[in-house]
Amino acid sequence: MDSVQSGNASLAPAKLSSVSAAKDDILPRPDLSYTPEVAAETAHLYERVKHIVPSVEWPFHAPYVAAINRLKKQRNAVILAHNYQTPEIYNCVADVVGDSLQLAKMAAKLDARIIVQGGVHFMAETSKLLSPEKMVLIPDLKAGCSLASSITGADVRRLREAYPGVPVVAYVNTSADVKAEVDICCTSANAVQVVESLGVDRVIFVPDQYLAKYVASQTKVKIIAWHGACEVHERFTGEELRRYREADPSIKIIAHPECPPDVIAEADFTGSTAGMIDYAKAQHGGKVLLVTECSMADNVAASAKDVEFLRPCNLCPHMKRITLPKILDSLLTLTHRIEIPEELAVRARRSVERMVNLTQ
Ligand code: 13P
Ligand code: SF4
Repeated sequence: MDSVQSGNASLAPAKLSSVSAAKDDILPRPDLSYTPEVAAETAHLYERVKHIVPSVEWPFHAPYVAAINRLKKQRNAVILAHNYQTPEIYNCVADVVGDSLQLAKMAAKLDARIIVQGGVHFMAETSKLLSPEKMVLIPDLKAGCSLASSITGADVRRLREAYPGVPVVAYVNTSADVKAEVDICCTSANAVQVVESLGVDRVIFVPDQYLAKYVASQTKVKIIAWHGACEVHERFTGEELRRYREADPSIKIIAHPECPPDVIAEADFTGSTAGMIDYAKAQHGGKVLLVTECSMADNVAASAKDVEFLRPCNLCPHMKRITLPKILDSLLTLTHRIEIPEELAVRARRSVERMVNLTQ
């Protein structure tokens, strides 16, 4: 596999886009006291998270959960939450949960006026690309991604000049600016399938060098990789996993393909966050070590009670910018709206739709 290091690689945050709400759109802030009515209204939701949210904390979450669920109806809004969202978001206010591919597909299908993205900025942009008629809101504009900010559209144009005629595959963890310049997108769930679908012997793969290495290990297609990395998954090491395995040889190690190769080499299974969840749930009575972001083990543990989870977890600071108070603000003020200039959106949408059509 070739690795590309551009002298002009941009490590600046991805360009973020939003517009503000008109004054008439803003609703008054509801009372956020923990009353007996709120306790009763949210009791069934606390049941879902009581294993992970201490009872002393619930009175802080419950008023937000109740207010958000009421506002969703009033606004005709849905919340799409990635598997890395905190348990109270994932279990108590989300309408759809999943990995990047599942969320992207659902964005287009949902019958709602507004989507609130419980996830990071590139996910909200992908929702907007596939659902241009809906209002797409991200509760915190700074919820970025180290992969998305490692490359720009101009970098892709330079790659095309360096490798004329070689198609470019972009991980969805990229800005619309990058998606507009590439041939097709992929997620961790379909990267190998997408690369092989092009029917060529060489592709440029951006921006994740580790996902690129993983794909290269699964296909005969030669991969020319960009040098981006996920700041969360690159911190895991094969050494720490070997120590876990020595302590208990029966554990199943499950890793996300954004991890470095020495980590993948120790894993019994490698796959997208949704693939990891399915594999973990099938280990009835067993022990599972989830090598990924912290919240996912909390979320999957709720529905896989007969599996013991070990969690050498790293937090994604971008995912953790999304909180219940920010989701409530987002629904009250209809901010921050994702807007993508039409000329850019047309080209970026084509790359995402090509992937979605391939994996229907
Ligand atoms: P998935 O597509 O596997 O959910 O991954 C998205 C992501 O950002 C993982 O870090
Ligand atoms: Fe980006 Fe990594 Fe966070 Fe996923 S976990 S959103 S790849 S920084």
